[in-house]
Amino acid sequence: MCGIFGIITAQETNLGPLLIEAGRRLAYRGYDSAGCATVSSEGIDLRKDVGRVDEVAARWEFANMRGRRGIVQVRWATFGELARRNAQPHLDCDGDMVGAHNGNIINNVQMRELFASEGHTVRGENDGETCIHAVERHFDRGCDMVEAIRRAYADLEGDYAFVITHRDDDRLYAIKKGSGLVVGIGEGFTCCSSDLHSILPLTRRFLRVHDGEIVILWPHKVELYRVRDGALVERAPEVFEGEVPVADKGDFPHFILKEIYEQPRAVERLLRRLDGDGETTRFLDALRIAPSVFLVGSGSSFHACLLGSYYFSRLAGKLVIPALPAQWIEQYAPGLNADTTVVFVSQSGETKDVMNAVELARSKGVHMLGITNLESSSLMSATELNLLLHCGYEFSVAATKTFVTECVLFLYLAQRLAGLDGAPLRQLPTLLEDTLERSERQVDDILAPLMAMGDMYYLGYGVTYPIALEGALKLKELTYMHCEGIFSAEFKHGPLSAVSPGYPVVFITAPHDVDMMINHVNEVTCRGGVAIAMAEEDERLRKNVQAYFPLPKAGQWINPILATLPLQLAAYRASVRRGLDPDYPRNLSKTLTVD
Ligand code: F6R
Repeated sequence: MCGIFGIITAQETNLGPLLIEAGRRLAYRGYDSAGCATVSSEGIDLRKDVGRVDEVAARWEFANMRGRRGIVQVRWATFGELARRNAQPHLDCDGDMVGAHNGNIINNVQMRELFASEGHTVRGENDGETCIHAVERHFDRGCDMVEAIRRAYADLEGDYAFVITHRDDDRLYAIKKGSGLVVGIGEGFTCCSSDLHSILPLTRRFLRVHDGEIVILWPHKVELYRVRDGALVERAPEVFEGEVPVADKGDFPHFILKEIYEQPRAVERLLRRLDGDGETTRFLDALRIAPSVFLVGSGSSFHACLLGSYYFSRLAGKLVIPALPAQWIEQYAPGLNADTTVVFVSQSGETKDVMNAVELARSKGVHMLGITNLESSSLMSATELNLLLHCGYEFSVAATKTFVTECVLFLYLAQRLAGLDGAPLRQLPTLLEDTLERSERQVDDILAPLMAMGDMYYLGYGVTYPIALEGALKLKELTYMHCEGIFSAEFKHGPLSAVSPGYPVVFITAPHDVDMMINHVNEVTCRGGVAIAMAEEDERLRKNVQAYFPLPKAGQWINPILATLPLQLAAYRASVRRGLDPDYPRNLSKTLTVD
């Protein structure tokens, strides 16, 4: 997803290397073009292109860019095709303003018609360029920068943040409406960025900008203004106390592989932190007294919510409803009130769909709890109580360790809500290690038929259904192959027609569901389909399938968590074999800050 970073320093300096670094730190969000602008006494220097930060930086020699003000942007194409003219930052008509945005301007077309009627020189189709012209037209009519930005804000529809500056000015300006914007305050510089993570290596002092605020940055201070009435906003900077993430693959060829292997230790750390944390008890109390509870998340986090809803129901007899954020808004809005409790789950804590649901919850007086991996994320500051995943920064676009820790967290909460002995959970790190070892040795047995067909189903029953969804999502993301996760009892209601001789179907089952699964396996094998089982050792099941991945013996509730690992590793290996980059799958973004 697009990311912006802007900096202003006390002295003119070689900003290029610093901007390249900032661009690299935003790169995890997923993008397809990159650009830098610096403003020095000689004017604006703008360089940009399609490609990775390092490629574009080398091609256009970002490293020698100088100035006192600098902007870097990574673009994930939405408005305007992938082309150099649509890469950001952008200039205004006469090249004396430069800026870049993150987000979507949904009246882009209408604004461009307006620009055309006013004779603007518009160079591309990207909506980031629209933001610059939207400011320019008011500036050229005599408004100062703040007033021009305020008026542009009234003209621009959508959710976005942008940073902009004028060649003859000595300040940077940024505005936030719906997309992330954080300000960093350092020694002799200030900066702003789409996310906190990208400023932490420069400074730990930061200010969170709220929607509808303009920030003016000087080298030694920042000022916040409310767009609505132009009033100055007083807000004390916060200091980030957590660990600053370092992008290091260690001995692994890819971040995702490293993150898959980090899972046993991540789970161990999470369980330790949960035990000693007063917030866990408060979180549990809030769930215990809540008359109705929703679990809301997107993508992999939604799959964790789905598994969580099984755990709460089956272990603690607590009915909780899992929902996708947009579904939650569309389906449940009328009935939400102060008796409702919602647990928002988002590893990034910034996903726009989730934040839309947070806005609705706030307006309805709903109790909001949060589960996230990123301290100081927007979700964390919006919710009353928060639990962190403590699994370390996840750099690969596809979620692995954050998904597993979300599931473990739900299992832990459900067990405590039920008053059950937590001892079995202590075995989890060892069981995960064992599963990883088995996966290394045997995951190719699953892969062979899958790779041959390039199209398949993952079937789960009950508690393994969310894992079928998650496994299929991983395979789709990392390999671009088609794979669908389905509740195995539903297969006969339609998808069974896909099965022809040799068609692969993976059956993921927890121990109590083996009998039922044998029925579903036979519906496939009697039509020539190839059945691959993923389950604890079970002789009856083994006799009914063509290939078997034996999971360690761990029981009904831990089994789905273990089953996730071979599916992650299968997706990873298939991606590498297809010559793809498993860390940065095409078209995807780590932090989805648009609708
Ligand atoms: C899948 C994946 C995405 C995210 C989804 C939600 O591998 O990474 O589906 O799970 O975009 O992201 P968060 O959890 O940050 O809200």
